[in-house]
Amino acid sequence: MSKLLNCITDKQTSYMPIWFMRQAGRYLPEFREIRKKNTDFIKLCLNERLSAEISLQPIYRFDIDAVIIFSDILMIPYGLGQKVEFVKGLGPILGDLNFNVVLNTKPDDFIKKLSPIYQAIKRVKTNIKNKSLIGFAGAPWTLLMYMLNKKSPKNNFEINKIIKNKSLMRDLIIKLEDIIFLHTKEQIKSGADIIQIFDSWAGLLPKDKISEYCYIPTSKIVKNIKSLKTPVICFPKGLGENYIDFCSAVQPSCISIDYEVDPMRIKDKVNGLPIQGGLDPKILLKGENEIKKNIDHYLDVFKNYPYIFNLGHGVLPETKPETIEYLIKYIRNKNG
Ligand code: CP3
Repeated sequence: MSKLLNCITDKQTSYMPIWFMRQAGRYLPEFREIRKKNTDFIKLCLNERLSAEISLQPIYRFDIDAVIIFSDILMIPYGLGQKVEFVKGLGPILGDLNFNVVLNTKPDDFIKKLSPIYQAIKRVKTNIKNKSLIGFAGAPWTLLMYMLNKKSPKNNFEINKIIKNKSLMRDLIIKLEDIIFLHTKEQIKSGADIIQIFDSWAGLLPKDKISEYCYIPTSKIVKNIKSLKTPVICFPKGLGENYIDFCSAVQPSCISIDYEVDPMRIKDKVNGLPIQGGLDPKILLKGENEIKKNIDHYLDVFKNYPYIFNLGHGVLPETKPETIEYLIKYIRNKNG
């Protein structure tokens, strides 16, 4: 069994698995080289040969335990017929949302449109032996947010403008629950042995809307994925105090924490649920002593606990690959 499954399914603690969110990405010169020649990001995600190659890049460099498929959470809106573009300096820009097109997209057409992603997973699978292969999707709320806001919500986000039509929201959420499950099921059929659900903007939800937009839809998807005997890691970024409620409401197989969550506190409150991540990615831009001190904190808190080493969000583009290498060696020397 792979190291991640040992940790998540069997709750083994003798070895601490390591991987990184956004491990296949812009901090790697070999990724930038491919990206330079492939200016259309969506097309790159749909190039099965290149996306398999990019997924594998980090394991050629680092002694990590998992491969995450190179793709994007916004491939779902794309598969549902919404225009998605990645503009340098601006991030993702989406076209107007045509509700009829989205709500009437047939599962078979969706799968056909995204089939290169599933083919890429098959290719990656034949190239890895004892490593886990992580498939992923965005959570309903984060996808709904991008589909309606049509860009990053970093500036001027007003939730009430976004979710004003209640019955439409309900229809969209139901469609997203189905399509997210379909997308993850296809990834599992193609060889993914773990699924991670990214709810990167869960923190935008006011307390009285978290259940409706985050817990309830996510728990349906988690239940469906678990019924396929595949573990699910959930990353509801920004939930703060509500991380603990999330775990009891959603029942993921593993919870990925962000850098605002106190690792000691969550460990004490989740009844032995496997935990992943936490370290602030900005720490990796600092000096060696600062890095060591912060890693030590997570290693101390999670000693003899089923814990997967990862960050509290994705690797930043400014990170030096040598720092990642150093971090892995440091943990391996201490934790087998
Ligand atoms: O983790 C991995 O290595 C696998 C690949 C992966 C990408 N995106 C590739 C990517 C994964 C798992 C994602 C998830 C994703 N995409 C999330 C959830 C995680 C998170 O960061 O919160 C979100 C919110 C997105 C949407 C998205 N995609 C944004 C906001 C952006 C632009 C800014 C940014 O963070 O890079 C992207 C582009 C993107 N997705 C790049 C990569 C490698 C950079 C593309 C480029 O400009 O070269």
